[in-house]
Amino acid sequence: MFIAIVSLKGGVGKTTTAIHLSTYLHTDKPTLLIDADPNRSALVWAREDNLPFIVASQAGSATFVPKHSHIITDMKARPEEDDLLDLAKGNDLIIIPTTPNHLDLDATIKAVNFFKKHNVNNYKILLTKVDSRTTNSKTAKQFLIRENIPLFKTEIPLLIAFERASQNGKTVKDYHDSRGKQAWKQYESVGKEIINL
Ligand SMILES: Nc1ncnc2c1ncn2[C@@H]1O[C@H](COP(=O)(O)OP(=O)(O)O)[C@@H](O)[C@H]1O
Ligand SMILES: [Mg+2]
Repeated sequence: MFIAIVSLKGGVGKTTTAIHLSTYLHTDKPTLLIDADPNRSALVWAREDNLPFIVASQAGSATFVPKHSHIITDMKARPEEDDLLDLAKGNDLIIIPTTPNHLDLDATIKAVNFFKKHNVNNYKILLTKVDSRTTNSKTAKQFLIRENIPLFKTEIPLLIAFERASQNGKTVKDYHDSRGKQAWKQYESVGKEIINL
């Protein structure tokens, strides 16, 4: 399966999603993560060599692509419109991570409207960094459902475990304490939704 992770904004959990979904999908079939962000965040994450799958830059990905069944592309923030359309054509699924906060949601609606205008419909929203202390996510979810915008059933909670994992070049799956397990369960659940699409 070919999956691209895109959003108009930074800091919404694209790279965190790319790393953890690649971890899950790699348990299904060989998975390659292509870091298409000039910041090279996924490549930096992979630098310690603790990840179970290969991360390649876009420039360096050609030889790896044929050897992998799942290809995940982690995009930069603010992609060009042409890139968005190319990604939509070249992938089975576009995942748009967004926090339920107003400004992030606003940027997400802009991306959705852009896709609608160009008759692209292979995208799905993933709510990320959901703070259980607020009702933001409930409101966001109700809005997205009312507008018939495709949305993953699973949402990713705001958990410090994700910060810890990225700092150590690991995934939350590597931590077998309750926080690690709680965090991993959510991406595992998103991965299952994808496999069952
Ligand atoms: N579910 C989460 N809970 C807590 N922190 C998160 C979560 N997802 C991402 N983060 C943190 O938020 C910041 C931005 O995440 P990142 O995945 O790099 O976003 P993007 O790739 O969209 O810029 C990072 O510091 C990351 O560790
Ligand atoms: Mg990123």
